Amino acid sequence: MDNRRLAVLGNPVAHSRSPEIHRDFARQTGVDLDYEKILVPDGRFHDVAMDFLGAGGVGFNITLPCKGEAFDMAEHRSVSANRSRAVNTIAAEASGRIYGDNTDGAGLVQDLTHNLGWKIADQRVLVLGAGGAVRGVLWDLLQAAPCYIHLHNRTSAKAIQVAAQMADGRITAVEMSDLEQGYDLIINGTSAGLSGNVPELPENILGHHSHCYDMVYGAGATAFNEWCLSTSRCEVADGLGMLVEQAALSFRLWFSEAVQTRELIMSLRKTT
Ligand code: ATR
Repeated sequence: MDNRRLAVLGNPVAHSRSPEIHRDFARQTGVDLDYEKILVPDGRFHDVAMDFLGAGGVGFNITLPCKGEAFDMAEHRSVSANRSRAVNTIAAEASGRIYGDNTDGAGLVQDLTHNLGWKIADQRVLVLGAGGAVRGVLWDLLQAAPCYIHLHNRTSAKAIQVAAQMADGRITAVEMSDLEQGYDLIINGTSAGLSGNVPELPENILGHHSHCYDMVYGAGATAFNEWCLSTSRCEVADGLGMLVEQAALSFRLWFSEAVQTRELIMSLRKTT
């Protein structure tokens, strides 16, 4: 059989580690695949995506800022995609229909609970940010049965809007002055870290028992995780595991094959 053609579409896309991750999964499972990076010029997502599928692509991943356009092109979608209104995985079905899923949230939950062994169930959770990255994971976080989720954003109107869209009594938007002390789990979903910044926050949101997760990753501790560690004896982790887990779920959607992720996360860590 010919190699299966897959890709990641986005802008920028050069930094993406998806090709090496999916090549590792292909090696594990014996699937033959070509996985490319495709840069999408402004406003061209739909054409680029349709060309790729028309040329025999079996599916693709979508990175920023195209997850909303990928949502629009999908002809039917998973609940997670519908609830987040974002799609990070497209699969061309045998019938020709285009299916859209969002594996970001499930990837985050898998990394938190399975790889890190942290609890979400019954925990008091604080999520920072109210952009696309956060909208993409809230529904799956709720499926993991937290006690509640406080959503805090620099621009509070956006947090209020996102909390309202989720329409679940366990999610509340909170202002800085209403943040509680010592959350069990704090997830940074802001993009502040991409420019080396940390959101402005009171130190008492952290307790010694707190688990702090930054959805971005990089060489060494992220700016947010450094702030957490300098403030409290909490535990921290970055988003590299989430990146690999969301990819594993995409791979399973395309090929119905489960893959191992632990060694891959460790080896990517060495080259990040
Ligand atoms: P993404 O798709 O990565 O989520 P986004 O939709 O632009 O990107 O959202 C970025 C998020 O990071 C927003 O919640 C943003 O806060 P605002 O809504 O107030 O802009 C947050 N963010 C970015 N830089 C930040 C900073 N320096 N401090 C606090 N929050 C920041």
